[in-house]
Amino acid sequence: MKNIVILISGGGSNMAALVRVAERENWAKRYGTKIAAVMSNKADAKGLEFARSQGIAAEVLDHKTYPSREAFDAALAERISAYDTQEHPALVVLAGFMRILTPAFVDRFAGRLTNIHPSLLPAFTGLHTHLRAIEAGCKFAGATVHWVTAELDHGPILEQAVVPVLPDDTEATLAARVLTQEHLIYPRAIARLLQGS
Ligand code: GAR
Repeated sequence: MKNIVILISGGGSNMAALVRVAERENWAKRYGTKIAAVMSNKADAKGLEFARSQGIAAEVLDHKTYPSREAFDAALAERISAYDTQEHPALVVLAGFMRILTPAFVDRFAGRLTNIHPSLLPAFTGLHTHLRAIEAGCKFAGATVHWVTAELDHGPILEQAVVPVLPDDTEATLAARVLTQEHLIYPRAIARLLQGS
C-alpha cells in the first residue's frame, strides 16, 4: 500500500476534493493507494474536521512552537515519514499549505512532493495571485499542479487549468472560479501519477 499524506493550512477544499475522488474512483483498489493522513500547521484549519469525519488521521504541528523553520520542517518530515511503508515512500501532497519549505525538506521528498498554486505558473508565484492578475489586466487566469523543487512555486508542471478573467471580477470572484478548477485538476494530476508509478 502506498500512502498519501496531504498538508493543509486552512479550508482544505482541495484536500476534500482529493478525498472524494479517491473514494469515488476507488484509488485503494485501482492504485493500492490510501489517503492516510492530513497534517496542518494550524490547529484551527477547517479541513481537519473534514478529514476526521472521513476516518483519516488528522495531525497538527504548530510551527509557532518550534524554534526555527529548520526544526519545524524536520519534525514535519519525521511525522510524514511515519507513513512510508516498506514497499513505498509516501506521496506528499501540498494543498493550501502556506509555508515556505526548507531545501532540506524539499530534498528529502524530492520526486514525491506536489503542490497546487492558484496561477498559471510561471506567472504570479507567491501570494495575492488573483489580485495581481486582475491588476495586470490578464484576460485569463488559472491554476497549476507542479512538482515541488527548491525554488518557491517552481518545478515541472503536471496539470494546468485556465479560466477567463471577467470585466467585473474581484479577487474573490476570480479566486472562486479558479478554485472550482483546482478541485478538478489536482485529483486528476495525482491519479495520473499513481497510474504511472
Ligand atoms: C488554493 O487556492 C491553493 O491553490 C492555494 O491556497 C488555496 C487553498 O485552498 N495555495 C497557495 O496559494 C499556495 N501557494 P483550500 O485550503 O480550500 O484547498
